[in-house]
Formats: sequence, C-alpha cells, structure tokens
Amino acid sequence: MSIKAEEISVLIKQQIQNYESEMKVSDVGTVIQVGDGIARAHGLDNVMAGELLEFSTGVLGMAQNLEENNVGIVILGPYTDIKEGDEVRRTGRIMEVPVGDALIGRVVNPLGMPLDGQGPIETTKTRPIESPAQGVMARKSVHEPLQTGIKAIDALVPIGRGQRELIIGDRQTGKTSVAIDTILNQADQNMICIYVAIGQKESTVRNVVETLRKKGALDYTIVVTASASQPSPLLFLAPYAGVTMAEEFMFQGKHVLVVYDDLSKQAAAYRELSLLLKRPPGREAYPGDVFYLHSRLLERAAKLNETLGAGSITALPFVETQAGDISAYIPTNVISITDGQIFLQSDLFFSGVRPAINAGLSVSRVGGSAQIKAMKKVAGTLRLDLAAFRELEAFAQFGSDLDASTQAKLNRGQRTVEVLKQDLNSPLKVEKQVVILYALTRGLLDDVALTDVRRFESELLSWLDSNHTNVLDHIRTTKDLPADEDLVNAINEFKKTFAASV
Ligand SMILES: Nc1ncnc2c1ncn2[C@@H]1O[C@H](COP(=O)(O)OP(=O)(O)OP(=O)(O)O)[C@@H](O)[C@H]1O
Ligand SMILES: [Mg+2]
Repeated sequence: MSIKAEEISVLIKQQIQNYESEMKVSDVGTVIQVGDGIARAHGLDNVMAGELLEFSTGVLGMAQNLEENNVGIVILGPYTDIKEGDEVRRTGRIMEVPVGDALIGRVVNPLGMPLDGQGPIETTKTRPIESPAQGVMARKSVHEPLQTGIKAIDALVPIGRGQRELIIGDRQTGKTSVAIDTILNQADQNMICIYVAIGQKESTVRNVVETLRKKGALDYTIVVTASASQPSPLLFLAPYAGVTMAEEFMFQGKHVLVVYDDLSKQAAAYRELSLLLKRPPGREAYPGDVFYLHSRLLERAAKLNETLGAGSITALPFVETQAGDISAYIPTNVISITDGQIFLQSDLFFSGVRPAINAGLSVSRVGGSAQIKAMKKVAGTLRLDLAAFRELEAFAQFGSDLDASTQAKLNRGQRTVEVLKQDLNSPLKVEKQVVILYALTRGLLDDVALTDVRRFESELLSWLDSNHTNVLDHIRTTKDLPADEDLVNAINEFKKTFAASV
C-alpha cells in the first residue's frame, strides 16, 4: 500500500498541533484562589512536587499540595497583586539556589537573591534545595575538632567537624552570641561559615552582619536571612537554602559550619503554611511531617570519607524553649536527631554565669573523639566535677560547718565556674584554653582569690604570650601537653608577678 507524500505531511502537522495544545494544558494553569501567601491553581496536570512556578506578575511559587483537581502553591514573595484567573506557568525546575564562592561575604535571601545592595551574585551554578542526605558508605566518623573558642563548649561539650549539636535555651540566654563567637573563631581554621537567620528582626540580623564585618569574619561567611516580616514559605526554605550552599563546598572537600538560628521559628512557619494548605494538624497543631522537616535537614550534615574529598558540614541548629521546657514537642524532636545539645539556662545567665551553659543537661555524643590530646587530659572529668559541685553547693547551703575536703571541693568548683565564664566576642585559642584549664585542674588557682580568677587568667595568658611562647607553641603544634614541670614552672613564675587586688 502506498502512502501519498501530502498525507504524511498532514499527519505530521496534526501531530505537532496536538502536541502543542497538550503542552499548553499541562504547563500553564489558572489561579482559582489566592490569599495568605497560598494560591490554588487549576490545570497544572504535570507539575512536580516542589517545582518552581511563575505567576504572571513575575512572583515565584512552589508547588506543594498535588491534589486531584488543583495544585496548592506557596507564594515566595508579595502576593497582593496576584488575582483569581491569573496565569501560572511551570518552569520545569525544582526549587534551587545559586551556589559557589561568589556567595561568600554576601547577605542573601533563601532564594539566593542579594539583600546587601552589593550587586548581583556572579555565579551560574545552582543546586536543588531538596537533595537526599549522604548514605552510610559516603561517611566517615567525626574525628577533627571544630574549635568554638568558647571554653565551656570546647572543654565540656566539644564539637567535631561533621557533627550536629543543638543549642537550646529560652529567649535571651545568649544563643546567638554562642554562634557568632564560634564563627569569629574560625578565622584561621580553614572553615566556611553560613549563618541562617530565620524569623528574626531585621535589626538583629543587621547587628550580626555588622559584628561579623567589623571582626573580618564576613570574608568567610554567608548570611542567609528570612526575617520575621517575610512570608512563611521563605522562613521554611531558609535552612534548606543554607545547607544547599554548604553542600557545594563540602563536595569540594572543604569544611563548612552552618548555623540555623532558629528552627523553632522554621517549624512555626511550616505549621502556618501547612494549615493554610489545609493539611491535617497534629500535636500542637504541627503537621504530621514536622519531624521529617528537621531530620531531612540535619541529616545533610556529614563528614565525608576520603574518596569523596573528606569535606564536612557541621550543623548548629538552635531551638528556643519556653520557660526552660526541653521536653516540649519540637525540642525533643530535634534533641533526638542531633548528636548532643548545649543547654543555655536563663537563671545561670542572670546570675552572671555567661555563657550560661548547664553542664549537667548538656552533652556531646561524638565530639569527645575530636578533642585534641592536651584538652582531653585537662578537661577529662571537668563536666562530671562541675555537676558534682552543683549538687554539693545545693547541699552545703544547709550546713555551716563543712569538713576540709568538702570545703576544698567547693573552692575548686567555684573557681571552675569562674574560669568557664567568658566575655562576648572574645573567643580563645585552644592552646590558651588548655593552659588555664591545666592551672585549674592541677590546683594552681586554689590560692587565687575568687574575685581575681578572671583577671589572673587574662594576665597569665598575655604574660605567656610575651614570656613563654614555647609553652603555647608546644600545645599548638604537638596538640599535647608540654612536660609537667615546664608548665607548672611557667605558671608559678607568673604567680610571683601577679599582685592580688586589695
Ligand atoms: N558571654 C556573654 N557575656 C556577656 N553578655 C552576653 C554574653 N552572651 C550574651 N550576652 C548578652 O546577652 C544578650 C542576649 O544574647 P543573645 O542575643 O545572644 O541571646 P539569644 O538567646 O540569641 O536571644 P534571642 O532569644 O532574642 O534570640 C545580648 O545583649 C548579649 O550581648
Ligand atoms: Mg538569638
């Protein structure tokens, strides 16, 4: 049977026409409802979950609920101009953010758009913000320290590269300050930092950026911010955007520290978004997948094995508690996902113990194996000693005549508390931490008046800097303690020059 040439061309033309119309039906939809940052659209039959969509006003949206007759879309920007009947187009792309070196030193929103007025971000590379976490074989156990420069953390609850350590506490207990000081301490540690601010005041974020800039820390830091005034989808996306930018560096074999300040606000934003999308509410009105919200984020922190370049992402998620209740829903969720927590307590904070770390309730499940040898030697039992001291202290309030050994323990405990206090924005190098903790645990501070302990510390450390650098150099290079007599002699030599205040 012969086919005429015209017939074939007619057939092909028909096919092409049908093909186009099919594309139209599935790639462009119509808004049928809009409000509260959520839109529903009809006609986007082939849309993917999490796909980026574009409204006719140019605003972007993300497909969330794929239902039988319509698609629930969260709007990532101003939504007041979007009307019922407007067109909404598929982009064919899953939500993604720009990544790469060009972002370092910049302040961006969760879509990777600059907010610092320093021009566009010169990068063409992007990564999808949702990507699976690394599997078991891709990983290596945590073994290198991440020095925070905060004595109470590096000594009591050390953090290793690739670890996830929760920072938890009430409002105004110094949570953000811990993160900022940690970032400041990374200046010479070969670490890229990403600070993700979620639902904070613009002025607070501004202060953080200014502190980082002034101290030169912005040179290795990216700030991702979705402030309190932004629509909830942006708050929900911010941590994923942060970890996505981090992954790019991790796969290049670099080390990254990501701070999520804080995940309670992200959970609240996700709850808002889910309720507006009419997903069924569960406990505390959070949707059923709020655990997955945090676990899929925090699982992306990893220490990669040698074949993958040995890079790492260390995550410091924050959770804000109400009246110190760490057994509420979101806190317990995140505690169970992370490798330990640092609990900041408000009564410690107000009694002047700053950073207000509660040694009894704070743990680090993997970081101990990442401490340098010298630190392990001096801080080995410090956490338990401190917890014992707190107990003894409460007990000693009842009786006045204490035996000599109890009195000695109390004395040592009080000095420990004093040594672990630290000022804002003054992270301390690990070798210096080791020296002062050595002096403390060997009893060399026992005869220093309690009120002089902090002055003793700072004067000792600067004295060593100018008179005995060999001690500090030894710890820094060998990561081990120098011979006992060297250290003790140096400290005693300084003690002769130290004048107690009257
Ligand atoms: N080690 C410290 N020494 C002295 N002051 C400190 C210290 N840490 C924090 N502060 C002060 O305590 C206040 C609260 O700190 P910060 O903002 O870090 O707390 P936060 O828990 O993040 O608060 P929020 O709940 O508002 O986010 C700040 O004014 C800060 O300057
Ligand atoms: Mg804060």
